[in-house]
Amino acid sequence: MIKKRNLLVANWKMNPSTFLEAKKIFNSTRAFAKSAKNTDIVICTPSIYLAALSKLKRPKNIFLGSQNISDKDKGAFTGEISASMIKDFGVSYTIIGHSERRAMGETNELVSNKLKKAFTEGITPIVCIGEIERDKEGEYLDFIRTQIKETFEGIQKKDLLGTFVAYEPVWAIGKSFRESMNATDVHETTLVIKKIFTEIFGKDIANSIRILYGGSVDAENAGDILKHGNVSGLLVGGASLVPEKFSKIIDCFE
Ligand code: PGA
Repeated sequence: MIKKRNLLVANWKMNPSTFLEAKKIFNSTRAFAKSAKNTDIVICTPSIYLAALSKLKRPKNIFLGSQNISDKDKGAFTGEISASMIKDFGVSYTIIGHSERRAMGETNELVSNKLKKAFTEGITPIVCIGEIERDKEGEYLDFIRTQIKETFEGIQKKDLLGTFVAYEPVWAIGKSFRESMNATDVHETTLVIKKIFTEIFGKDIANSIRILYGGSVDAENAGDILKHGNVSGLLVGGASLVPEKFSKIIDCFE
């Protein structure tokens, strides 16, 4: 049985610069988190902070996540971190295929292999997809379709059920909330994504997929996107590092 809770993911990216700051942000986030009764909050910090943060007390609805995992188990892969390593520190989620990693060369095939590794290790993946830009001809839809097909093909049905897919249009990331995607367009695109899943993997899978929206989510637009965007949660970058903003985003989940 898949539990239907909302998910709020904080993607700290390569921030903050010191562990002292990281601890401050983590502490304020866990203080606010208690108010979010039906929401799980996943804080994806730089990997080097995870071990120490995992030792701090946190409410039951706060989880730690990594921003990436290797597609390999172990061995001569300098700089890489495996799924089993993060799992050993109580990290239960991982972002996979974020557009900033795709821009560094990650292909759909690599993202797919990382996804398989996450499932093998029992780590819950949050798989990022999204077009780089929108065109009037609708070619971006083919782009999304290819991403979905190549990323999820070959994944076992039991794993696919209930998977978190973060729809993050690249053109809307790292901007102000005014330049973010509006709730109506988010809604429309989530329907298209579900349709693509239906065509490729069937209705059961499509209905179970939980879509999050990410891309310049802030206190100003979070509520609207949650209410009208047909999403199961949000993935927040910049605003997740600012406790005053993130607490307001958490409040939108009630
Ligand atoms: P942003 O980042 O909220 O700063 O746009 C989102 C993301 O890249 O995951």
